[in-house]
Amino acid sequence: MTSRVLHRSGAIPPIAVSGEGIHLILADGRRIIDASGGAAVACLGHGNRRIAEAMGRQAATMAYAHTGTFSSQPAEDLADIVLDGEPGGLSHAYFCSSGSEGTEASLKLARQYFVEIGQSQRVHFIARRQGYHGNTLGALAAGGNMMRRALYEPMLSAAFSLVSPCFAYRFKRDDESDAQYVDRLAGELEAEFQRLGPDTVAAVLAETVVGATTGCVTALPGYFQRMRAICDRHGALLILDEVMCGMGRTGTVHAWEQEGISPDLQVVAKGLGGGYQPIGGVLIGRRIVDAITQGSGGFMHGHTYQAHPVACAAALEVQRIIRGEKLLDNIRAMGARLETALIERFGNHRHVGDIRGRGLFWALEFVADRGGKMEFDPALKVNERVKREALVRGVAIYPMGGTIDGRRGDHVVIAPPYIATASDIDTIVERLGDAVDAAI
Ligand SMILES: Cc1ncc(COP(=O)(O)O)c(C=O)c1O
Repeated sequence: MTSRVLHRSGAIPPIAVSGEGIHLILADGRRIIDASGGAAVACLGHGNRRIAEAMGRQAATMAYAHTGTFSSQPAEDLADIVLDGEPGGLSHAYFCSSGSEGTEASLKLARQYFVEIGQSQRVHFIARRQGYHGNTLGALAAGGNMMRRALYEPMLSAAFSLVSPCFAYRFKRDDESDAQYVDRLAGELEAEFQRLGPDTVAAVLAETVVGATTGCVTALPGYFQRMRAICDRHGALLILDEVMCGMGRTGTVHAWEQEGISPDLQVVAKGLGGGYQPIGGVLIGRRIVDAITQGSGGFMHGHTYQAHPVACAAALEVQRIIRGEKLLDNIRAMGARLETALIERFGNHRHVGDIRGRGLFWALEFVADRGGKMEFDPALKVNERVKREALVRGVAIYPMGGTIDGRRGDHVVIAPPYIATASDIDTIVERLGDAVDAAI
């Protein structure tokens, strides 16, 4: 087979022709359980008629109107549903076409906000190693995914610096309590503010639950409260990237609800539209919107396809289904089942060092030696092998290497759709168990 599509790797992947609920169906007839929704995207599974019909209706009625002159009802309704009750003081939404575009917009909103309020000296952004915010050059510079940055390092802006992530399994010292580790990380963030000049920092950027780069790493209790407090003390904004972990994935609409804080700007994407259309967005705090509307009057940014009516119509239907069918309850129930099943199957596995996550967002980190947390030789590509073996068994999961530092470490992410049933969860874990044993 030949292909003129530039694929992600040298190999030509199998063609997926249709989808039904949790399954993808390939051209050769194989039915694959999509146990990670790609990269935690397909949150309602595949082939949902309601969403397809909403998209079709919108496409037939009015597919496009330039946002410089017009708005559209799906964009207005989507903002209303997502921002109902102004969660955490977030009052407005800017919709775009991907997570990376959302990150770019959040950085520009932060910068413009400070210019509007007369603090144009705020030009620095602090993010974290082993976090990911997208692949466009601004978002890549803000990210700490060393593997994805390496090739483009000379092109990345010096406006961004990186501090340590909160990644207890790998980086909490044996002689430290959780509280001491959080203290150390808060001290590091404070030191970075001091090094840059506290009044030159525009924002701190972090994934609330780190997604693909390290594999569903939740922060320790109190960590985000300390980060929030440091930002507030120095007048900087907190941007939370919930592209992967947000919109219900961890059991609450926003992952930050479980951290006792809220952000000034929040990037969303994957679970917003569930993959039915490319859509991302930024949820924006009222004071930022006010500063811009009462200042220069408009956000100095934009894309031709922002707030695309068909994408917004798809996302609106996704959000209506999540709420109407009370899927947050299912995420919590099936998340608990997934956690228990993973612990039962892998809790004593000599090559599974850590089982972590929240809601329907879980990862296994693989190790050569469990006691010493020694990783496998990266050349073995253990994560890829597990992916391959799982696919042979009819399950698609999301693998990643470089868990520890962009080079060393292996994990896979399991992120079933919000509609998953108990038997789906059991089948996924059973087949994944066989795949891990076969792969290692
Ligand atoms: C946390 C996070 N931020 C941003 C992005 C970038 O999103 P996109 O690939 O839609 O540009 C991703 C994608 O995986 C992500 O996981």
